[in-house]
Amino acid sequence: MEKVRVELGERSYDITIAAGTLGGIGPAMKELSIGRRVAVVTNPTVGALYEKTVVDSLKTAGFSPITITVPDGEKYKTLESAATIYERLLTEKFDRKCSLVALGGGVIGDLTGFVAATYLRGVPFVQVPTTLLAQVDSSVGGKTGVNHPLGKNMIGAFYQPLLVWIDTATLTTLPPREFIAGLAEVVKYGVISDKSLFDYLEEAIEDILALREQDLTRIIKRSCEIKAEVVGQDERESGLRAILNYGHTVGHAIETATGYTRYLHGEAVAIGMIAAARLAVALGRCDKSVTSRIEALLHRGGLPVCVPSDLPPRQLVELTGGDKKAVEKKARFILPSRIGQVDITDDWDETTLESVLRPS
Ligand code: NAD
Ligand code: GLY
Repeated sequence: MEKVRVELGERSYDITIAAGTLGGIGPAMKELSIGRRVAVVTNPTVGALYEKTVVDSLKTAGFSPITITVPDGEKYKTLESAATIYERLLTEKFDRKCSLVALGGGVIGDLTGFVAATYLRGVPFVQVPTTLLAQVDSSVGGKTGVNHPLGKNMIGAFYQPLLVWIDTATLTTLPPREFIAGLAEVVKYGVISDKSLFDYLEEAIEDILALREQDLTRIIKRSCEIKAEVVGQDERESGLRAILNYGHTVGHAIETATGYTRYLHGEAVAIGMIAAARLAVALGRCDKSVTSRIEALLHRGGLPVCVPSDLPPRQLVELTGGDKKAVEKKARFILPSRIGQVDITDDWDETTLESVLRPS
């Protein structure tokens, strides 16, 4: 079993990565010195596949688990869903010694983490991520939250889990489109901080798409190491952590312009990564070959790379001003200077951005 440590002083925790370990969650949680009462939060899709294994393991290890199931989908990552979870925990008289387990993708992880951060002013929680995106990104680093009708992820808290338990075998049941969307975030880690990860992705992309076990473990571990390193230095995104948003400025604009229905998050980020790389080239900050390499890899991975022709570039430029991380309405861009290195900058202009968003 591979292990990555997130170093955050007294809030440090382990991420474990291996295939076929879901049934080991009970004994692993027993090591955490938490109370016996555990609520497993999941959705019907993931619950049907993995809830029994998790609940049986918890019972065998001496816990007394209940399951709370919320409907599947981003539109249920809301305060209303949080309220139904609070209600069940209160009805069951869960006290401060209880803990929560998030069993699912990023939606379940963000929602459960937010409930854990706020129920009785905070109870422990464990992430059991079952999508590639959740395994390499959302389960690590403590960003938790829900959506508001006026904006995505607008209500939330930084709240770290006690453990992230990754069973890579859960990816075998994930719809291929979801897997590929998660791959965009892995490519992101290569571009922002690790050329050898990027080289390896170029070499092994076919094996990764075929879900070859050793490749999955390797890319997930390396992604978690990079995220752990960044979060360890800048937990609350006062600086460095922003590099994790490479591709997200234009990605978010595209998701907003298409009503969050046409693209999965990772797909929009893939288009956003190319847009940011092209912006870097247009601003004279990096060589064109960098864009070509990122584009070729994303394309081979099955990800979109072009801004769709029905989205006016001007509209996208304006939407970047609404980005949560925008400072005084001007988005900060994460721009590659070469594979493995990016800069955070607001030194860009709208005309150049608009030009790189035009279909070529
Ligand atoms: P998701 O949680 O909606 O999961 C995608 C779909 O896959 C769902 O239908 C789910 O039920 C299904 N699924 C999950 N695991 C499965 C499995 N093993 N087998 C079969 N089906 C499975 O989507 P996601 O991409 O995992 O997460 C997206 C969310 O993550 C967004 O809300 C986003 O805001 C959030 N996010 C958070 C962070 C963070 O740092 N907290 C980072 C990135 C994204
Ligand atoms: N997904 C970006 C972050 O965790 O900061």
